[in-house]
Amino acid sequence: MKTKIVVEPWATSAAGRAGIGRLAGDAEARACAEMMSSSDPWVFFGRTFEQCLARVTNPGGEVWVAREDGIARGFIILVLQGAFVGYIQVVCVAADARGSGLGSRLVRFAEERVFREFPNVFLCVSSINPRARQLYERLGYTLVGELDDYLVRGHSEFLMRKSAGPLAEFRPESERGERASCLLPAGVSPDGGDELPTKM
Ligand SMILES: CC(C)(COP(=O)(O)OP(=O)(O)OC[C@H]1O[C@@H](n2cnc3c(N)ncnc32)[C@H](O)[C@@H]1OP(=O)(O)O)[C@@H](O)C(=O)NCCC(=O)NCCS
Repeated sequence: MKTKIVVEPWATSAAGRAGIGRLAGDAEARACAEMMSSSDPWVFFGRTFEQCLARVTNPGGEVWVAREDGIARGFIILVLQGAFVGYIQVVCVAADARGSGLGSRLVRFAEERVFREFPNVFLCVSSINPRARQLYERLGYTLVGELDDYLVRGHSEFLMRKSAGPLAEFRPESERGERASCLLPAGVSPDGGDELPTKM
């Protein structure tokens, strides 16, 4: 009898090899800031390395880094307080690692983290970045509204949301006594290789 070997498409990709964990140390913060400041949309909006570093090291954000062989290949910053709690502030993948599923994996990771405690994930995407908007739409985000002339005149930020349900019906994982992943939208699943904390 023949054994059928199924090779998952992600198994050999950067996304398949990377593990996701909290930002670790100054050198990694600088590597993330470099990744960000050398890429659109931040180049387009004139963000300097120092400004990006300030964003990466801001204690108000929770930074998760996808590493391959210990090297940062992408990262995501979450804001878990204030209005629009559960906000993905930044998602960035190294230019030579794009298109392998790593960005999608970072976003799904962030969703798992947020949906443990809050029923919505929010993000903004610039009108100069239609490919990223398409990615978010594919991942289940819908348009909330357009903030025109928001960062610079003549361009908009699109506020998008993915929801697990109304606030009034949502119970955080700590009150549910079960893994949030049981309640996540289809396609969002825990990833054993990553470091999602049991309690923050
Ligand atoms: C957007 C981004 C995080 C996606 O990460 P990724 O690992 O390339 O994403 P995936 O492999 O999971 O999905 C690929 C999709 O990402 C989007 N994408 C790919 N390269 C992109 C780029 N340079 N800029 C924006 N979106 C891009 C496309 O929708 C692509 O699908 P397509 O090939 O069918 O067009 C990554 O491309 C990136 O860091 N871009 C530059 C920074 C950026 O735009 N961040 C988002 C700010 S809102």
